[in-house]
Amino acid sequence: MMDEAVLARVRERLRGATSVCAFTGAGMSAESGIATFRDALTGLWARFDPAQLASEEGFRDDPARAWAWYAERRAGVRAAEPNAGHHALAAFARRHPGRLTVVSQNVDDLHQRAGNTDTVRLHGDMLADRWLQRCPRAQACDPADAAPGTPPRCAECGNLVRPGVVWFGEVLPGAAFDAAERAVRGCGVLLVVGTSGAVWPAAGLVSLARMAGAHVVIVNPQPSEIDDEADELVAGTAAEVLPALLDTL
Ligand code: OAD
Repeated sequence: MMDEAVLARVRERLRGATSVCAFTGAGMSAESGIATFRDALTGLWARFDPAQLASEEGFRDDPARAWAWYAERRAGVRAAEPNAGHHALAAFARRHPGRLTVVSQNVDDLHQRAGNTDTVRLHGDMLADRWLQRCPRAQACDPADAAPGTPPRCAECGNLVRPGVVWFGEVLPGAAFDAAERAVRGCGVLLVVGTSGAVWPAAGLVSLARMAGAHVVIVNPQPSEIDDEADELVAGTAAEVLPALLDTL
C-alpha cells in the first residue's frame, strides 16, 4: 500500500518545481521483466560474476562466454516493453516540455521507447556494438561490418566487437556525466527511482543534487544505500508510484 500523505507531499513539490530530474536504476525496468543487479535472489550479480562479465579483463579472458551472456540479455531487452513507470515519465515530459530530464544508469532502451528519447545514459547502451580496442591500423571501420562470430571480429585485424556498456573500471562517457551533473544541479526535485545507490560515480549525483538545493525523493520498495540523502522516501515500485505521482500533474 502506498502512503497517500507522502504521495500528496511529493506531488506538491513537483507542482512547484520548474525543473525536475528523474535519476533511474535497474529497478525502473524490473516490472518490464528485466532483472536488476543487486536484489538478493533475482539480481544478476547474485547469479553471475561481474568480474567475468562486466569488466574488460573478464571479456578478454573468455570473449565467447561474455558475448553469449550479453546476447541473451539483449534478447530479453528487445522482448521487453516499457512499464507504467516509464510511460508516466514520458507522458509528464510531453505535457511539460523542457521540464523533465531523465538521467539513467540503465543500459536498456525502455525510457527511449516510452518516449524520453533525450534520456542521459550514464552507463551506455547494451544494444550498441563497439570495438574492444582502438583500431591498430587507424581505420574507422563500423562494427556492423565485423565478420560473424562469438563475438564478431574484424576480418583484417582480429579486433573484437563488445557491447556499448560501461564496465567496472571504465570511465563514464564524459558528455553524459556533464549533462547529468547539470541536470541534478539545476533541478528543484530529484526523483530517484529503482537504484541501490551502490555504484559510483553515478550514486554521487544524489548528494550533488541535495547540496545544490534539490528536494530529493527516493522511490524504492526496499531501503537503498543513499536513503540518508532523501527528503522523502516513497516505499513502492516504479510502475505503481510514478503514475500515482505524475499522472494528475
Ligand atoms: P541495483 O540492482 O544495484 O539496484 C536495483 C534497485 O532497484 C534496488 O534498490 C531494488 O530495491 C530496487 N527495485 C527492485 N524492484 C523495483 C521496482 N519494481 N521498482 C523500483 N525499484 C525497484 O541496480 P542499479 O542501482 O541500477 O552497471 O545498479 C547500478 C549499476 O550497477 C548498473 O547500472 C549496472 C550495475 O553493475 C552497468 O550496467 C554499467
